[in-house]
Amino acid sequence: MRTQVGIVGAGPAGLLLSHLLHLRGIDSVVLELRDRDYCERRVRAGVLEQGTVDVLTAAGVGDRMRREGLPHHGIELRYGGAAHRIAFEELVPGRSITVYGQQEVVKDLIAARLAAGGKILFDVPDVKPHDLTGSPYLTFGGETLECDVIAGCDGFHGVTRAAVPPGELTTFERDYPFAWLGVLARVRPSAEELIYARTPRGFALHSMRSPEISRFYLQVPKDEREDAWPDERIWSELAARLETVPGFRLETGPVIEKSITPMRSFVTEPMRYGNLYLAGDAAHIVPPTGAKGLNLAVADVTVLTDALAQWYETGSSAGLDAYSATCLRRVWRAQHFSWWMTNLLHTFADEDPYGERLQTAYLDYVTSSTAAATTLAENYVGMVW
Ligand code: FAD
Ligand code: DHB
Repeated sequence: MRTQVGIVGAGPAGLLLSHLLHLRGIDSVVLELRDRDYCERRVRAGVLEQGTVDVLTAAGVGDRMRREGLPHHGIELRYGGAAHRIAFEELVPGRSITVYGQQEVVKDLIAARLAAGGKILFDVPDVKPHDLTGSPYLTFGGETLECDVIAGCDGFHGVTRAAVPPGELTTFERDYPFAWLGVLARVRPSAEELIYARTPRGFALHSMRSPEISRFYLQVPKDEREDAWPDERIWSELAARLETVPGFRLETGPVIEKSITPMRSFVTEPMRYGNLYLAGDAAHIVPPTGAKGLNLAVADVTVLTDALAQWYETGSSAGLDAYSATCLRRVWRAQHFSWWMTNLLHTFADEDPYGERLQTAYLDYVTSSTAAATTLAENYVGMVW
């Protein structure tokens, strides 16, 4: 088998790349380890930046997102018994976010690729990249896929980054001493906007997916197990962390799904080795507090598409040569923002009272100074570079 771009991974990065390349007349094949159902059901991100919404819309895969997605013009920071709104419409006029589940984006992209005759091979074990600095190819299950370049879109635990010889990439990382328990529940949201709550019991986040489905996250110990969290415990802990302002009552309902996510910051430099280009979580991870991971994946593949189109159309490798540096500028801004939001809102077991007071001082600053609130708002809705 032969194609122009061999894509490993059918997450948002790989699928969107395949779709954007198709719109530019470039052929690709996507190889995915898991089955289609698994990819479409995996519950993860929910916050789409303005720029992500614009890319999906311009690519013709935004119809359902525009119908079913929930536009949001602010978020709430809740701490010390009070609620504080960060008002995007005042701080970053004309810019907002859209709440729309990542698995819905994945469903829309898979449908668009298949409708256009695109090739996505699901359930493909043992994908291996070869000859990355020469004529690259991928092998899987006794088959070979020859290509001009390989796009590593296979997430943090994938095989593409691992195929780069030791010493060629530099990695930067930070682990956090806690994880998030993510919960999807069949209950109407208890608030109209997202609530980021910092409490002495730990962080909690109230989000949503639709008028009938709510999404929550709870800070839990690093090695926590899901079975330590029966539904009654989830609801009582969410209530303890969210019912902290007068008049707020948490609606409860059946839990549909729950899972634990480790919190990690990670960057690979450069995001390229020979004819292998890494994109999305394969190249970088952020803790989810800033809601940046999916948005970074979309930004990476947008840059990569332009660079590949330039190369195929003109023979110039200028865009490909600049790919890593172009992406890393946004990646490091998002790294800093995600680290900052994480530190601002979580409880650290080893924190002394001084550290706790610093957190409060910064939250007071962000919720009272227009300059500080604008810093949060412009990063949250997505920087325009
Ligand atoms: P993935 O979605 O991980 O896709 C990689 C794909 O590659 C997968 O389908 C995988 O099965 C496949 N694969 C792996 N190994 C192989 C292999 N060997 N061979 C073939 N295929 C392989 N981001 C936001 O922007 N906003 C948010 O609100 C947000 N919230 C989040 C909440 C949670 C709880 C979590 C866990 C993440 C959140 N993120 C958020 C981050 C976001 O989900 C990720 O950054 C995003 O999924 C990255 O997309 P990707 O395509 O790079 O990687
Ligand atoms: C959601 C996830 C996030 O990481 C975040 O910061 C906000 C919302 C969500 O899944 O809805």
